[in-house]
Amino acid sequence: MSEAVKLTHNEDIKAAIPTVAGTIAATIADAGADHFSQDDYEFLKFHGVYQQDDRDLRKTAKKYIMMARASIPGGVMTAAQWMAFDDLAAQYGNQTLRITTRQGIQFHGVLKPNVRSLIQGINHSLLTTISACGDVRRNVMAPPTPAYTLARAQVLEDCRRVAQATRPQTRAYHAIWIEGVQLNLDDPENKNFSDPLYGKAYLPRKFKIAFAIPPVNDIDIFTNCIGFIAIAEDERLAGYNVAAGGGLGRSHGNIQTYPRLADVVGFLPPEKVVDVARAALTIHRDYGDRADRKHARFKYIVAERGPEWVRAEIEKRAGIRLEPARPFTFDTTGDLYGWREAVDGKWFLTIFVESGRVRDMEGRRLKTALRQIAEKFNDIEFRLSANQNVILANVIEEDRDAITELLTGHGVGSGHRQTTALHAAAMACPALPTCGLALAESERMLPGLIDRIEKLCEEAGLAGEEIVIRSTGCPNGCARPYLAEIGFVGKAPGRYQIWLGGDTGGTRLARLWKEVVKDADIESELRPALTRYANERFNRETFGDWCDRVLLNETTSGFSI
Ligand code: HEM
Ligand code: SF4
Repeated sequence: MSEAVKLTHNEDIKAAIPTVAGTIAATIADAGADHFSQDDYEFLKFHGVYQQDDRDLRKTAKKYIMMARASIPGGVMTAAQWMAFDDLAAQYGNQTLRITTRQGIQFHGVLKPNVRSLIQGINHSLLTTISACGDVRRNVMAPPTPAYTLARAQVLEDCRRVAQATRPQTRAYHAIWIEGVQLNLDDPENKNFSDPLYGKAYLPRKFKIAFAIPPVNDIDIFTNCIGFIAIAEDERLAGYNVAAGGGLGRSHGNIQTYPRLADVVGFLPPEKVVDVARAALTIHRDYGDRADRKHARFKYIVAERGPEWVRAEIEKRAGIRLEPARPFTFDTTGDLYGWREAVDGKWFLTIFVESGRVRDMEGRRLKTALRQIAEKFNDIEFRLSANQNVILANVIEEDRDAITELLTGHGVGSGHRQTTALHAAAMACPALPTCGLALAESERMLPGLIDRIEKLCEEAGLAGEEIVIRSTGCPNGCARPYLAEIGFVGKAPGRYQIWLGGDTGGTRLARLWKEVVKDADIESELRPALTRYANERFNRETFGDWCDRVLLNETTSGFSI
């Protein structure tokens, strides 16, 4: 590039303080400060913390609260870790644990004086918040269902190896959160620090990695920067197809930004997975756009330079020749609720968690139930699904009934149908009141909206049928609405875009159907579409497929249904 490019402010501050320490520790030590500076807001993200304010209170006062996110490769927690997290949410958070759409756990409503104790507690439980947010690789995902086969167990191991090999090395994390020490930013050792993988300026933006095992795409593999699709042959893991360049975030009114699904660019043996992950990450590091954060995702490199270029660059950097991709199919993105047996004779139970929010409610004391299970059955694993549910795994046959009984006693179901089909398949991002980027409600409005859509489905003769509905409070797309059969994307308070036409395997993007719909008008917009679908669909055609085949191909100008 010949012309000097103006880098973003984030680039300047990362280069100036490559340990990403900022003045976080000093601000924590300052009892009079209730929040961090604007630059520290950016550095905090690398440590897994978002500074927010309670948006319900904005009209009267500004109350700063922090969100802290634990990064949990593959979403697998021990019972002891679950108990530790449960305690931490009660002591320092808002009493709830939020299972995220990327298999992490978020603590909301943490006040500044408590954030260090919270992160210490997470570290004592042998988990971490480093790299859960920020311009680094985010939580590495893997299918949460426990090992049916050896291949599955190895996929989780590979997920953990990749997470380990892409972890930032800064001393700042330990200094701030464990020792409580402000690093001397002028010390040449800190000033000249350069991460062995990330360098001095880290990545231009976040980088997402995930693993999937066909035919279940329960982690939405194609939405990741790099996805590894396990190819099993005779129950053995032969290797992975690598998919490059997925990502969802976009901005309203900016057509340069768009959701994109990853392209499958080749196949590699399992022993090369770390090299390939690091190679792709460094392509993002070296070629990503550091002048425009909205354009700084790996997906735009793949879109603009082409999958062939990316494939060749991965090969060069990883010192490998990718073989042609091997065949695979995905047919579902959903979780299988209820008890199932794993091949090792152990059992696992998927429990529905509305919007991933683990809390006690009148008649359904989910948080207490899970806590008691963790206390009583120490060998159980708590696995977090990317559909925001929890899977109790590694359960021995003799404990099944006691667990079911304990859950029932707290009003929590354990059957294959724990809620209605629409609720079971839905997802919402947190949005208001915590997320500073939210333009509209999401988590708080979706359950009520689903009840309303259920009524429409009943009217149309579709009662009990599954339609994947997802909502987000802004176009960033944290709950992956652009892959839903019906996606609601917040535009303004009480106003949403409607996206339609995702497929059940997570292999097709939804398309924008309505630019802006008032909350109160959602029924009148959707009713004719659902009615037509019920009457016109082929045999077992899903709503998303029908929308893609019929509705979205009809001209919208002057067209009314
Ligand atoms: C593109 C710009 C994006 C920005 C600036 C952004 C920012 C944020 C913020 C501020 C939160 C915290 C909200 C809260 O808990 O109060 C959040 C949550 C989250 N985001 Fe994003 N996000 C973006 C896109 C995405 C995408 C595309 C995904 C994945 C598909 C994603 C995954 C998550 C997850 C897993 C959470 C935790 C809450 C949940 O599970 O719903 N984000 N994001
Ligand atoms: S989609 Fe938007 S509103 Fe929802 S959590 Fe993500 S950034 Fe916040």
